[in-house]
Amino acid sequence: MLLAGCSNGEGQDAGTDSSGAPTTGSDAADGTEGADGADGADGADGADGADGSDDAPNGSEGGSEATGVPANCDEEELSELYARYVEPFVSGTVPQSCGQCHMTGIDMSMYAQDTPCDTMACMVSQGVVDLDDPPGSSLLSMIDMGDPNSSVFDVDVEHQAMLEWIEWSAQCHDQVCEGTQSPCDENSGAASTGTNPIGDCSEADLLTVFWDSVIADRGRCLTCHSDWGQQIGTFGACQDKADCEFEQVCVDGSCLAPGPYMAPHFFEGVDGMLEWDNPAHRDLGLQTMYNVIALGLLDVDNPVDSSLITKPLLEGFKPLEVHGPNTNMTEMPAKGGVGIYHGGTSKFSFGCHEEPCPTEGIVDCRVDTPCGDGACPDGTSCSAGYCRMTGSVCDATLEAYYGFANYFAECRGG
Ligand code: HEC
Ligand code: HEC
Repeated sequence: MLLAGCSNGEGQDAGTDSSGAPTTGSDAADGTEGADGADGADGADGADGADGSDDAPNGSEGGSEATGVPANCDEEELSELYARYVEPFVSGTVPQSCGQCHMTGIDMSMYAQDTPCDTMACMVSQGVVDLDDPPGSSLLSMIDMGDPNSSVFDVDVEHQAMLEWIEWSAQCHDQVCEGTQSPCDENSGAASTGTNPIGDCSEADLLTVFWDSVIADRGRCLTCHSDWGQQIGTFGACQDKADCEFEQVCVDGSCLAPGPYMAPHFFEGVDGMLEWDNPAHRDLGLQTMYNVIALGLLDVDNPVDSSLITKPLLEGFKPLEVHGPNTNMTEMPAKGGVGIYHGGTSKFSFGCHEEPCPTEGIVDCRVDTPCGDGACPDGTSCSAGYCRMTGSVCDATLEAYYGFANYFAECRGG
């Protein structure tokens, strides 16, 4: 049963199953109509994204699908969904901030033990998981009631992942896990063994860098990449596109500006400056940071290829070097880093709004040599009040983004 999600995902024919729900043996068996808990399965649409996982080969042991009994109870049998959405939060203590988005309906500290086995045992003993009726587990309703502080987080996916783990446990818990005497007493306070999205860096340090680079200029992205942007980009009622003006699209009876409708809303909060000293504002910054990381907008192996940068960068532009207060990159990878198509047009266009635009260049945003009266040193010229390499371009936000992407890559040991 658990295998179904994987094998189908690979074969794409899963797409024909409109619910997108992995057809689990147990669901099929008891006909589920009534089981409220199963509703969350709708969310499996979103989960499809996670299916492109490398553990698809598991699915080849397809014989087990028919019976609903897993071939064996390796944790390998659990799909990527579990690894991504459940494991990090059930094996030890995670930083408190994670709970702003993950498992928001559950006080995980009540259940999370040192190992997933112990956590499951604890959840069962507390009555929030029902191994005889996995979809009926009240833990799932708690997930559904959660309200993540993120505009791109989907509790349905989390519900689906948790359900998968509970169903796996219903088959495998007794085989795989050793019995525990006192189920909720196995939490030594050890840190979670799950993936830590921010690597070795402290959250506070990373946020500081993120703040100065990305939050500081969020106004350049907010109109499209936020719920607020979608709100102000919502116009009159419509039945179809013909009722709407310009490029607007007709969605659910309203004309919407296409940018905010198409763009993922990873920026949190509304218009206006966020202030570091305001704790609520700082939270919005933190949430935005986790959204950016979680959406995979940063490329740890090759920071210049982070889509956070290549999307807003002038399309077709290849940076040859990048200099400024936040970074100094003289050795750029021969390939990559080039601006790509962006539904929101090129934000970092160096003032070029019409073809032909530069296709490569040195980004120089240094501010250490103001050019007042004296001439600039050889090879540099006065630009925007500073001596910078002759022929170079600058967008200070872009330069700051490189600084953040590089910093993040170091956090992750890239
Ligand atoms: C502001 C909300 C938010 C916060 C805070 C947050 N996350 Fe996430 N996290 C997300 C989103 C959104 C996703 C992506 C979900 C998706 O893929 O649909 C995600 C995904 C993940 C993933 C899966 C990553 C992957 O791509 O495989 C892990 C692991 C994770 N988060 C761990 C954490 C941990 C640990 C913390 C605390 C240190 C944390 N998150 C804090 C929003 C958040
Ligand atoms: C006018 C609207 C608009 C503005 C402003 C805008 N974008 Fe976008 N952006 C979009 C749209 C639409 C998409 C989705 C289509 C695409 O990927 O090109 C998108 C996609 C992206 C993506 C890819 C997201 C993903 O999950 O793959 C990133 C990264 C991004 N934008 C970054 C930015 C940044 C950073 C800024 C500000 C400097 C910005 N955008 C400003 C409209 C906009």
